Amino acid sequence: MKGIILAGGLGKRLEPLTRITNKHLLPIFDKPMIYYPLLTLIEAGIKDILLVTGGNNAGDFLRLLGNGSEFGLKHLNYTYQKGEGGIAEALRLAKHFAEDEKIIVILGDNILEKGIKKYVNNFKKQGKGAKVLIKKVHDPQRFGVVELNGDKIISIKEKPKKPKSNYIVTGIYMYDSQVFDIIETLKPSGRGELEITDVNNAYTKKSHLTYDILEGWWTDAGTFDSLLKANNLVAKKERQRTT
Ligand code: DAU
Repeated sequence: MKGIILAGGLGKRLEPLTRITNKHLLPIFDKPMIYYPLLTLIEAGIKDILLVTGGNNAGDFLRLLGNGSEFGLKHLNYTYQKGEGGIAEALRLAKHFAEDEKIIVILGDNILEKGIKKYVNNFKKQGKGAKVLIKKVHDPQRFGVVELNGDKIISIKEKPKKPKSNYIVTGIYMYDSQVFDIIETLKPSGRGELEITDVNNAYTKKSHLTYDILEGWWTDAGTFDSLLKANNLVAKKERQRTT
């Protein structure tokens, strides 16, 4: 399975922090943000990785991560997204890299307490389709919210005013090669983006979307509050690890 980290977009919700650097290069405790999704993939056994970046200072990723040898990788692939046309638009750039293999996608601002290897293994055993990792949160209206019926996802709504549950889709997605055909059918949403939620709903309609509930804490880091939260959670985890 190949891995894709999406670190495009302009990080406007973090202005002025993102005026002079890329959001995914901001610090989360003792490391740049981008280290965390990269290490999450590597710890899950994913060795063939593409980083999609964009916006300002894209060259800094190359200076920071190089060819990935510091992380035990033989090679690291890069591509560039112009503007911020959405998560699904950024993923579209990975089509040639994926070469019809199954892929795991992680958003560049997603920070996790624990590893995801068992979910990746579950998806490897799943025939066709897609898998999302979901999580119960207190502020579901900030995310893609799932409506569940037993072990089935009925639908996902992006940032609903009246969420139908407290379960949200985290920024970790696993897809078969259909995903790139689905992306071609998408139309920009109200916020002018190709939405990953529309991709996931296309799988839901065919009953090809499975889910696992992510264990351990999880946060994004794209707002001032969530950036602070991510820093505090990682600091606490590191202190526990070292004492
Ligand atoms: O973090 C999980 C949430 O991420 C999901 O619950 C939502 O369904 C999903 O839409 C997304 O929501 P956000 O509004 O928080 O996404 P945001 O625009 O903050 O983008 C998150 C990451 O995706 C960002 O750090 C880099 C990547 N991205 C985003 C955009 C808009 C790109 O690579 N290119 C883009 O154009």
